[in-house]
Amino acid sequence: MKLIKITAKSIAKSRLNRILTWCNDPEISRFFKSKTRTMERILEILSESKTYNFMINEDNQDIGYIFTTNYGNYAYLTIMIDKKHWGRGYGRQAMILIEDKIRKLKTKKIILGLYRENKRAFNLYKSLGYKQTKKGNIITMEKKL
Ligand SMILES: CC(C)(COP(=O)(O)OP(=O)(O)OC[C@H]1O[C@@H](n2cnc3c(N)ncnc32)[C@H](O)[C@@H]1OP(=O)(O)O)[C@@H](O)C(=O)NCCC(=O)NCCS
Repeated sequence: MKLIKITAKSIAKSRLNRILTWCNDPEISRFFKSKTRTMERILEILSESKTYNFMINEDNQDIGYIFTTNYGNYAYLTIMIDKKHWGRGYGRQAMILIEDKIRKLKTKKIILGLYRENKRAFNLYKSLGYKQTKKGNIITMEKKL
């Protein structure tokens, strides 16, 4: 598996469409606060200077994305794997790769937010050493790098 950096300027239209399809799939967007996304909004995210974004690519096939926003002392992270591939270890592998990239930026911490009922994400982050810092309907977890 590899992470391929994407920016608003360099992203291929086909990749953008793929992200758009994932973001607007109710089975996936139910895990996110934003239930729909427009192409304009995705391009806006990809062009923000603080963001550092990647396609998750396995054998030349895009199977998900990771968006991160760097706030200097911490990075906020969002990950999505194509539903066809859930539960097959790709999320874990991708998290290990992105942690390494963020560490190299000298950013000391990763923070992420998830719905309490998102057990798969919770178990993944917990097993990677993330600690819950905020309870409620939306949980916050973080890990010192
Ligand atoms: C959350 C997500 C990124 C995890 O990626 P994944 O590739 O499905 O997860 P993995 O296969 O790497 O599993 C990692 C761990 O998750 C847990 N897990 C996997 N499937 C699970 C399930 N059905 N129920 C509960 N926990 C599960 C296990 O602890 C697993 O560890 P193990 O491999 O040691 O058993 C992915 O499922 C996804 O994109 N979901 C929709 C979007 C989303 O929720 N994003 C995160 C929002 S913060």
